Amino acid sequence: MTLENILIDCKKQLTGALNYKKHPFRYFTLASTSKDGIPSLRTVVLRDFCPKKFLLTIFTDARSKKVEEFKSNKMGKLLFYDTSRLIQIIIEVKMIEVINLDNHFKTLPEPSKKDYTSITKPGTKIQSPDKVKYNYSQNYFRKIIFQAVNLEYLKLKRPTHIRATFSSEDKWKGSYLVP
Ligand SMILES: Cc1cc2nc3c(=O)[nH]c(=O)nc-3n(C[C@H](O)[C@H](O)[C@H](O)COP(=O)(O)O)c2cc1C
Repeated sequence: MTLENILIDCKKQLTGALNYKKHPFRYFTLASTSKDGIPSLRTVVLRDFCPKKFLLTIFTDARSKKVEEFKSNKMGKLLFYDTSRLIQIIIEVKMIEVINLDNHFKTLPEPSKKDYTSITKPGTKIQSPDKVKYNYSQNYFRKIIFQAVNLEYLKLKRPTHIRATFSSEDKWKGSYLVP
């Protein structure tokens, strides 16, 4: 597979994740770093992807730890893994924008609105899960947009695994790596 085709396939799969709910790249691991330098990891859903500008978008609660961490350190990593094709993609990103979109929030299905309207902020200790209270008139729905800076691809395949790295710095031309 040529380097060009590897990158084309990565972008195709990320686009596919928006359209197919069962796509392995729909859910991915997002890493940020705390002020103390400790990594934080969590699963999130890919909500938008722009192949041309290489932008990736997630939805979240404005009060979540990830928002706080990305405000102080804009760099993060996204980990995608396709269990059937044995493909791992790690994208280093720069957080470029946290957007407050009240109009978009209004269009969300009612159960989804719950994810962004708890009265107390995410991560607050509670007596039991049914003790959470919501206020739909005050939402904390945010979009976070990330700019891809570099991408590392690994496909496990006998007899030769394929590993490659791409970066915006070298205009995404890419280079193969020892797996
Ligand atoms: C399947 C799954 C999908 C999730 N999707 C999102 C998501 O799209 N956005 C989000 O903020 N949290 C999502 N979460 C919750 C996060 O993993 C995390 O627990 C939460 O956002 C708090 O993270 P933080 O305190 O590190 O900011 C998801 C969790 C699971 C298990």
